[in-house]
Amino acid sequence: MKKLSALILAILMGISLVACESINSDRIRSDEDSIVDGQQFSAPGQEEKTGSKAEGDNTSGTEGNNILVAYFSHSGNTREIANQIHGRIGGDLFEIVTVNPYPSEYGAVVDQARKEQADDYRPELATKVENMDSYDVVFVGYPNWFETMPMAVFSFLEEYDLSGKTIVPFCTHEGSRLGRSVEDIKRLCPQSTILDGLAIRGGDVKNAQNEVYEWLHELGMIE
Ligand SMILES: Cc1cc2nc3c(=O)[nH]c(=O)nc-3n(C[C@H](O)[C@H](O)[C@H](O)COP(=O)(O)O)c2cc1C
Repeated sequence: MKKLSALILAILMGISLVACESINSDRIRSDEDSIVDGQQFSAPGQEEKTGSKAEGDNTSGTEGNNILVAYFSHSGNTREIANQIHGRIGGDLFEIVTVNPYPSEYGAVVDQARKEQADDYRPELATKVENMDSYDVVFVGYPNWFETMPMAVFSFLEEYDLSGKTIVPFCTHEGSRLGRSVEDIKRLCPQSTILDGLAIRGGDVKNAQNEVYEWLHELGMIE
């Protein structure tokens, strides 16, 4: 009789152990992942981490996150060169955008740009660099507008304290190359080191990869 009771007790204990195991493993799975209709959603914390890493981790194995590639572009040429530089060197890409967009019609933008330059006007900027302190090297790109930078780039250079940083100018143009833009940058940022700038003709931007590479190489930015 004693033996029979012990056997029944052992069977009952075995059944309850298996049941517990099954409940626990269900709970673990539902804590780790949410699976809805076959799609897996990660926890919000994980998403944020992945997002911020992807943003700053565009390096091609070179310098990394202490580089900012900032540019203004009205019709896309300078944006193309900024993308090529960023593709080579990594860091963060930043577009300088004005609160009031420039007109797209050529005559209208020429009139507005000429007036802004004559008035030494500083257009208000819509985009902000959150963490300028974290950059040592700031590439600054722009189209040549009447021999120098668009006034929006003057606004950008005055908005931040760039002293102690290295500024690397690049521009696109239709014949005037860098014009007097580098002298203007030196005047606005007297405490910065200004490296040799790159000037690419607007019509040549799509085929400028080699020139961009050579320039970055000569500056010692890439091997
Ligand atoms: C308002 C304005 C002024 C310009 N002034 C000059 C100039 O003085 N010298 C020059 O070579 N190109 C000049 N250009 C041509 C631009 O520099 C050239 O098209 C540039 O590649 C445009 O760059 P984006 O497409 O990035 O705006 C001017 C263009 C505009 C719209």
